[in-house]
Amino acid sequence: MSDNQWWRGAVIYQIYPRSFLDTNGDGVGDLPGITDRLDYVASLGVDAIWISPFFKSPMADYGYDIADPRDVDPLFGNLADFDRLLEKAHGLGIKVMIDQVLSHTSTQHDWFQESRQDRTNPKADWYVWADAKDDGSPPNNWMSIFGGVAWRWEPRRCQYYLHNFLVDQPDLNFHNPEVQKATLDNVKFWLDRGVDGFRLDAINFCFHDAQLRDNPPKPADKRVGRGFSPDNPYAFQYHYYNNTRPENIAFLEDLRRLMDQYPGAVTLGEISSEDSLATTAEYTSGKRLNMGYSFELLVDDFSAGYIRGTVERLEAAMTEGWPCWAVSNHDVRRAVTRWGGDEAPPALARMLAAMVCSLRGSVCIYQGEELGLPEADVPFEALRDPYGITFWPTFKGRDGCRTPMPWKDAADAGFSPAQPWLPVPDQHRARAVERQEADPDSVLHAFRAFMRWRKQHPALVRGSIRFLDTAEPVLAFVREHEGQRVLAAFNLSANPARLSLPEGQWQPQTIPGHAVAGVDGGEATLPSWGVFFALAG
Ligand code: NOJ
Ligand code: CA
Repeated sequence: MSDNQWWRGAVIYQIYPRSFLDTNGDGVGDLPGITDRLDYVASLGVDAIWISPFFKSPMADYGYDIADPRDVDPLFGNLADFDRLLEKAHGLGIKVMIDQVLSHTSTQHDWFQESRQDRTNPKADWYVWADAKDDGSPPNNWMSIFGGVAWRWEPRRCQYYLHNFLVDQPDLNFHNPEVQKATLDNVKFWLDRGVDGFRLDAINFCFHDAQLRDNPPKPADKRVGRGFSPDNPYAFQYHYYNNTRPENIAFLEDLRRLMDQYPGAVTLGEISSEDSLATTAEYTSGKRLNMGYSFELLVDDFSAGYIRGTVERLEAAMTEGWPCWAVSNHDVRRAVTRWGGDEAPPALARMLAAMVCSLRGSVCIYQGEELGLPEADVPFEALRDPYGITFWPTFKGRDGCRTPMPWKDAADAGFSPAQPWLPVPDQHRARAVERQEADPDSVLHAFRAFMRWRKQHPALVRGSIRFLDTAEPVLAFVREHEGQRVLAAFNLSANPARLSLPEGQWQPQTIPGHAVAGVDGGEATLPSWGVFFALAG
């Protein structure tokens, strides 16, 4: 595999900079904090990091509302801090991917400040402006994911602007070629600085329907939320017109032409459309994105059948593309709690990391997942996420997965000497890095050991995948690459479960950090939340 293909089968560790490590005592994590802990990240055996936005921002959406995409927000440091981070990461053999938010900006961005002034300024057509209907109501029925209608009145122009997310996040008008060019210039800025790739925020939201057609209503029994709950009125529509428009394809191809000038630089798109798996396949075919991820494993559904069905659907739809899987990130409840409840045992955390890192594709691991952190219970008074504040109490927002990394079992969790921007729960201190380093049986040690073992088995990194017909609660598949075959099985339950081995000779493997499965003749018994791996031959 040439080095330019490093991303195939890579494990990408996602860092949410506000919550990683605070080095200047303001209660908020920063870039020097990331640099400080890169040795820890390297020790995990991951291939790359993806850093959530650290650009200049009023922080209405904690950095996903960007006022200047070419500069670092002073809260996080400055460009020299970023360069130091990059250099140290590269010295440790870690690739650096950063977030790019192309579809929208902050209202504080110069482009929007100019655009909103009147209907004739040079940037007048850079955002999605539309007249009111005759009765003064918004131009169509589109809803914002973060609550309420997706349109906000601008008195200076006597027009509405579109915001698919917060009112502070106006959508850019990608139908305007100047917008596309300016956006690609911003991407180029970071490529020239030496980054290895991008996670592309809401990449299917760049284009809206130029005719602004209404979205059709969605019946109540079809309102399955993917990144939003069923009681969010955003779920009451089919999103045929406010996103995933066909014009996006040509833009992705332009983006790829730019990326190809920087060999080895990679794109990972965040995709949430009506059929995210089909869109992922479409966006990663031909010369478009390298990889895509969707919310399909970031949901509450948890069964072997669901996971198998999801992976098989993508496998069937994807011709040339490369998948990327995640079971946790900064937008959803932590997987351990989502899938195991409040009392989820450490064995579940160990199994989940091994499971997601065994699927065909690359993987995003979210900071704290290697510690088996459960979701933090953040009280209403401490909430920071506007999404959670709006939809409380039926949806509590995203603060529970964004609390600071617990480095030490101390009052400040070793994160910051100041009051942290979000509280650190007691259960997290008990699972702090320092505690787990000292405990040979910890989730952290099991995570590292599995990463090492995975790297020694190319079939797990690059191989094909074929599922076995197993009954719940066992998920099992065979991965194969250049003659190596690995059987991987996972018990998605607290009770021991049996697996009939497929035909052939299988050599059971001892997986460091994981309880040993019993093998008797053609049958393996997987312990509670256990794993079983075997090599053919
Ligand atoms: C997806 C990001 O992951 C999320 O955190 C953000 O709020 C929205 N896009 C809007 O940028
Ligand atoms: Ca700080």
